[in-house]
Parts: sequence; structure tokens; C-alpha cells
Amino acid sequence: VILIAEPDASARAAVTAALDPVPCRQVDQVAGLEDQLDDLGPIDAVVVGPSVDRAEALRFAEKLDGRRPVAVLLVARELEPELLREAFRSGVHDVLTPDASPQEWAEAIARARSRVPAVTDAGDHAAVTRGKIVSVFSTKGGSGKSLIASNLAVLAAGALEEGSVGLVDLDLQSGDLAIMLQLIPALSIYDASQSAGRLDIDALTGYLTQHPSGVSLLAAPTEPSLAEQIGTDAVAQILHLMRERFALTVVDGPPLFTEPMLVALDVSDQIVLVGSMDVPSIKNLKLALSTLHQLGHGRDKLRVVLNRADSKVGLRAAEVERSLGVDIDVQIPSSRDVPMSLNQGTPLAISRPKSPVIQAIGELLGALLPEDQQHSGRRRSRRR
Ligand SMILES: Nc1ncnc2c1ncn2[C@@H]1O[C@H](COP(=O)(O)OP(=O)(O)O)[C@@H](O)[C@H]1O
Ligand SMILES: [Mg+2]
Repeated sequence: VILIAEPDASARAAVTAALDPVPCRQVDQVAGLEDQLDDLGPIDAVVVGPSVDRAEALRFAEKLDGRRPVAVLLVARELEPELLREAFRSGVHDVLTPDASPQEWAEAIARARSRVPAVTDAGDHAAVTRGKIVSVFSTKGGSGKSLIASNLAVLAAGALEEGSVGLVDLDLQSGDLAIMLQLIPALSIYDASQSAGRLDIDALTGYLTQHPSGVSLLAAPTEPSLAEQIGTDAVAQILHLMRERFALTVVDGPPLFTEPMLVALDVSDQIVLVGSMDVPSIKNLKLALSTLHQLGHGRDKLRVVLNRADSKVGLRAAEVERSLGVDIDVQIPSSRDVPMSLNQGTPLAISRPKSPVIQAIGELLGALLPEDQQHSGRRRSRRR
């Protein structure tokens, strides 16, 4: 049964007609609806109509997301990227226009329902497992983002259940994760973005490249010029699916605030902000911190990492902290192991798991996934 929430009677009737012969029930608002769902009988999907206040619709989707095995579809008069981004971020499964055909509706409902994860517990309000997204970012190239993102993913793959870690190369112009991991991807995020409207978890899996560590990579396009053709709505949808598929998705960012990166930051549970130990890099870090703050990403969402923290350039971590006005969460030392592992094409977490660089990245992983590490049956013994 599909529940249509829409104040306007004719809009309600139009959706009901498009969904025919699927049985529908109707309500005229979403305010408080999440609490009434139990009393309304079995509901498979909620369609939020075009006249419902947008902020209210998204709040409703957010409240349901991960807590109810109910698909949420939104009807919007225009599919603006900004709306799509917000909608997917709030847990809306699909967005349609009022003129969608019955066939489009049927497909959208089927797709949305297939994406609703099963409730893990028999309990009524039990939470479903919803993966984490962690973005590794800095506004400076060469600060160590890719080193951190790749090794973070490999370490997590060793610590979590098999097949539960994804890695996305969002450095669309010059991503080098495939090279760093010695992989030759047949398909990239560009290909995935081209079929964004039709993607589901199974289809997305086809665009991933498997690394022997168990990490699934969504590679950057091999042709930098393709980067511009990757839309933000596609990126939002891809990340949403990655979250459903993987317990942890690590996003390796470009060295600047690109549109796709803004989307990734929005959907991220945690942001790892990387700086390295030199004056220009610290200046960049300070600017990035204030931009992130303006974008509404609070300090509790950030993990500040200082890479090459032992570099002998006359800066000490304490001075850096004072200059930044924030504490550094993790310091990664400089090591010759790093260029060596890059040349070998084997992540340091595999070739030299005892390296101090990996110890530090392990500390970062611990800060990002504390619950999983402390009391979770999924954890396997670390391959150290
Ligand atoms: N802790 C470190 N010790 C030694 N070299 C490092 C360290 N971190 C990064 N590097 C070097 O810096 C370069 C840039 O690292 P990378 O991870 O590709 O940065 P980004 O992705 O931010 O551009 C690489 O050549 C790498 O060898
Ligand atoms: Mg990089």
C-alpha cells in the first residue's frame, strides 16, 4: 500500500491515478506522519506530493531514514540539482515530476522499495544499518589526502566484515587512486554518472573495481575532460547508494571545493581535513576550516589531521594548533615508507602495517568508527 501525502485534492487524485492499480491511501500532510504510520496499517512507500512544504517533506524523510522500512518518494515541480541533492541527503529514494507516466511511477516505486534496507531487528523502531561516509579533504594538493584515504579504506577492510568498504575517487580531474592501488578500472564514476537515473545498488556494483584488500573502488575518469560532465545530482545519488551498500565509504577529494565535493561534504558523516606541516599549508587549512564552518559543517563533524607532522621546518604542532584555533586530532609522521609504497603500488597498510604512518592512520580510523570497533560483532581480528 502506498500512502500519498498531499494537501491539494486534485494533485492527490493525479498521483493516485498514475499509481493505479496499486492500492493507495491518502493523507493531507506529513507533519507528525511518522508517528501515525503504525496506525495506518502496512505502508510500503510514502509519496510526498508537490504542494507539501519542501523543508517539511525533507524533515519527514530524514526522520524515517534508516528507522523505517518505508520508501519515500517526492513529487517536485522542477528537478533542480539543489533539491535533488537535499532530497537524497535526507534519505528520499526518488524524486519525480507531476507529469511522470504510470510506467515511470511503477519503476520508481519498485526501485525505491528495493533500496529500502531491511530492518535489522524485529523490533518496531529498530534502526537499520546505514553506512558511514567519510570524506578526506584539503584545499591543497600534495597534502596526503590520497595516502590517507587509500590506507584508511584498506585498514577498515581488514577490521570490518568482508566487502563492507567502498572508496570513491572524487578527484575527478586528476584522481590517482587506481594507480596508487595498481588497478585498471574498466569503468569509472563518469560511466556510473551517465546512468545515474537508472542506478540501483546492483547496477552500481558493476562500476566498482575490486582491490585484493577487499576495498571496492569507484575510480576517477581516466580522461580529465570527462570530469565536467559528472553532475552533482549524479554524485549525490551515487554516494547515497554507496552508503546503502557499504558500512564505510571513504571519499578521496580534489584539492579544492568543487561542486561534487560540496555534495560529498554534505552527505558525509565525518570530514577528515588534512594539512601538512608548512606555512602555506597551514594557511590553507585555516581557510578551509572557516569555509567548512560557513558551509555549516560543525567542529564535531571534523577530524583535523596534520600530515608530515614531524617535518623539521621549524613548526611545532602546538604552534599550529594555536594558529588554527583548533586541536589537531591525529598527527601522521613523515616517512620514506610512503614514497616507497607508492612506487610499489601496494598500500602501506599492506606492505608495512607496522609503519608509524599506518599506526597514525589506524588511530584516525579508531576515531571515525568508535562504535564499530568497541562493541560490534562485525569486527574481525585485524590483519596486522
Ligand atoms: N607522511 C608522509 N611521508 C612522506 N611522504 C608523504 C607523506 N604523505 C604524503 N607524502 C607524499 O606526498 C605526495 C602527495 O601525497 P598524496 O597522498 O598524493 O596527496 P594529495 O592526494 O593530497 O594530493 C606523495 O608523493 C607522497 O609520497
Ligand atoms: Mg590525491
